[in-house]
Amino acid sequence: MNKKIAVIKGDGIGPEIVNEAEKVLNKVGEKYGHTFEYTDVLMGGCAIDATGVPLPQETIDICLASDSVLLGAVGGPKWDTLPGNLRPEAGLLGIRGAMKLFANIRPAKLIPALAGACPLKDEITKNGLDLVIVRELIGGAYFGERDTHVDENGVKHASDSMAYADYEVERICRVAFDMARKRGKKVHSVDKANVLDSSRLWREVAHKVAEEYPDVEFQDILVDNTAMQLVHNPAQFDVMVTENLFGDILSDEASMITGSLGMIPSASLGEGSLGLYEPIHGSAPDIAGQNKANPLATILSVAMMLRYSFDMSKEADSIEDAVDKVLADGYRTGDIMSEGMKCVSCSEMGDLVADRI
Ligand code: IPM
Ligand code: MN
Repeated sequence: MNKKIAVIKGDGIGPEIVNEAEKVLNKVGEKYGHTFEYTDVLMGGCAIDATGVPLPQETIDICLASDSVLLGAVGGPKWDTLPGNLRPEAGLLGIRGAMKLFANIRPAKLIPALAGACPLKDEITKNGLDLVIVRELIGGAYFGERDTHVDENGVKHASDSMAYADYEVERICRVAFDMARKRGKKVHSVDKANVLDSSRLWREVAHKVAEEYPDVEFQDILVDNTAMQLVHNPAQFDVMVTENLFGDILSDEASMITGSLGMIPSASLGEGSLGLYEPIHGSAPDIAGQNKANPLATILSVAMMLRYSFDMSKEADSIEDAVDKVLADGYRTGDIMSEGMKCVSCSEMGDLVADRI
């Protein structure tokens, strides 16, 4: 098959990690007889520098005309003082919105070879950790009405409204239940229904959808309790579905339990097969350009692309297996380094994975 991939390398370590993901993807192409055609497009800080805006229209057009989009990371201190709508992050929210990517899939799994990097006590993780966070991605406070103003008394006010419509909750819940059916058949719907109206709607709709999936175990859980349960008994979770902001926060927490933010891929999906794939970590400006970054989350994101956008599951498995092998063979980038392991650079890590495809 021939697939067109729009590539947003972005800022900081973005270009380095994306290069390694392309290296691995090319190897998959050679082995399984596919051609992947890349078109680089600008978004984030590099787009601001080149065009004055974080998300040029050309980028949106090319992404929409592609079979899938690969993204490294955006942002950095250089652009931190710009107004909100001109920051690199606004580009990321903009492309998610323009592509109507309402479902963000973030798997967090304890990889046996990395168990030592998990910050929790062994007794807490003895039953493992293998969960998927299904985060609503184009609603809630990130996309609601916002306002900043100074009133007649000189007091400054700012607000962001966390708004949801029933159909937005319904479609993301369906993604979660469908996913649970293919995994551990358990869904936790995370909300703050003891306080927020938007969460009460969320809960009402989640219950309705749950009725259509009698084979899937279903439970509501409050977001504060979820944050606590994640570090108390992470093995209880299979699929967790939640709104945008809660999902952002909980996915960072879950990733830390796996030992490194540098290991977690993500897929952002809409109604069709077009998706955007990116590591959940940021642009790490402090180590950019030093060939030190961990490219595994981006490489694993490419595996998700093969699985979800291109329906190439054996090719996806080949990448995931190759990553497991490299780790089992003792190779580590600096962020997941531990005693007795072999520390390798970003590009060496890419080579090691590609060699095992
Ligand atoms: C993420 C990031 C983004 C988000 C930022 C960079 C806008 O933290 O993908 O989790 O909050 O969605
Ligand atoms: Mn985040």
